[in-house]
Amino acid sequence: MIRTSTLLAALAIATASPALAQQAPAVDPAKVDAAVKAAFPGAPADWAPRLTPDETMKACSAHNNLPPAPVAQAITAREKATIEYPADGNFIGDWKRGEQYAQSGFGLRFTDYPPRNRVNGGNCYACHQLTKVEVSYGTIGPSLLKYGEIRKFAEADAKLVYEKIYNASASFPCSLMPRLGANKVLTIDQIKDIVALVMSPDSPVNK
Ligand code: HEC
Repeated sequence: MIRTSTLLAALAIATASPALAQQAPAVDPAKVDAAVKAAFPGAPADWAPRLTPDETMKACSAHNNLPPAPVAQAITAREKATIEYPADGNFIGDWKRGEQYAQSGFGLRFTDYPPRNRVNGGNCYACHQLTKVEVSYGTIGPSLLKYGEIRKFAEADAKLVYEKIYNASASFPCSLMPRLGANKVLTIDQIKDIVALVMSPDSPVNK
């Protein structure tokens, strides 16, 4: 049996730790930058932008991904401004191609260099459940099973999914989901194909 005093001691530690974390000395961001760059000595030249945090990443790091309201608003405004929309105003492409992109992590991995004659993937399954048939998926993001059906396949929601994939931080500051359109990982047409996977009644996500 656990003694009350042990429990109380554990509770005291648990409540004290956030305060302790706040007292930790701030790390010089220049030192962090230098350490990150030094960790990729053989990085190809076109990786340089990926090793340099942009304004949003800097703000997220400075606030441990929990920015105060004014900073959060500045992030979502800045990220929203990056979103480019399909010229034809249609957000739904081909879900079969979308499924292939959702399953593919090709593109930005060490082993994907030098670039080969293959399109990038969105790696959606690494973080989300999308279909019942896919055996393996990650759980960093919420399950997207029946996502379109739950939303009655509404066009307004297809637009939101497009925006989420294009730039997740436009609606969720410091999201752990990559900014796949803004960072040129996926093209507008690829994003439309993935929106079709998430939102079409005939896609395996909603069957
Ligand atoms: C590295 C992990 C990661 C990857 C890869 C990823 N996501 Fe996400 N996704 C998340 C997280 C975390 C959230 C919740 C926070 C947010 O909304 O930004 C999320 C949220 C979402 C949402 C909104 C869910 C809701 O509650 O309405 C959609 C839709 C979505 N992701 C679709 C996708 C698709 C499609 C792909 C592939 C192109 C993808 N995600 C790739 C982590 C990821």
